[in-house]
Amino acid sequence: MILPIYLYGHPVLRKVTKNISPDYPGLKPLLDNMFETLYNADGIGLAAPQIGLEDRILVVDLSPLADQDPSFKDFRRVFINAHIIEKDGPEESVEEGCLSIPNIHEKVPRKNRIRIQYSDENLQPHDEVFEGYKARVIQHEYDHLEGIMFVDHISGIRKQMIRSKLDKILKGDVRCSYKVKPVPKK
Ligand code: NI
Repeated sequence: MILPIYLYGHPVLRKVTKNISPDYPGLKPLLDNMFETLYNADGIGLAAPQIGLEDRILVVDLSPLADQDPSFKDFRRVFINAHIIEKDGPEESVEEGCLSIPNIHEKVPRKNRIRIQYSDENLQPHDEVFEGYKARVIQHEYDHLEGIMFVDHISGIRKQMIRSKLDKILKGDVRCSYKVKPVPKK
């Protein structure tokens, strides 16, 4: 089932998510829905707050970018109860977008390497290091679990330049190809 993606300005995107318990009801269908929603929107990553849930779950699938790097082809991953415990390596600025912030793309500085502890879709625990673009995408989605969005990392003149676009999203003036959940009217 394709779920609506919550847009920038929705309060759920600013919540710090909670770990889920092993008896979390409907985990398998939820993960299926997250991937279906991700593919429908032509994205490469989706975090639970983007579909309105305060649960510590994110999914990533880099296969659409397999022509850039063959190792992306099979990189379809679920991260449950994820916690990044180290970030290091050089900082790089690379352009990012977000399904919750349609039509805005900006360079975001991030560390090149992360170490993350998480459980997979079978609730098996992992402690793993990721580098490069994989580390970037995981950090972007992980930020969602902490109530952070990529535009928070942008400052100065660039932030001013996207301000009017962000204001449009806040007003519900959004055009995109997938189903969205706009900001509730006050
Ligand atoms: Ni995002």
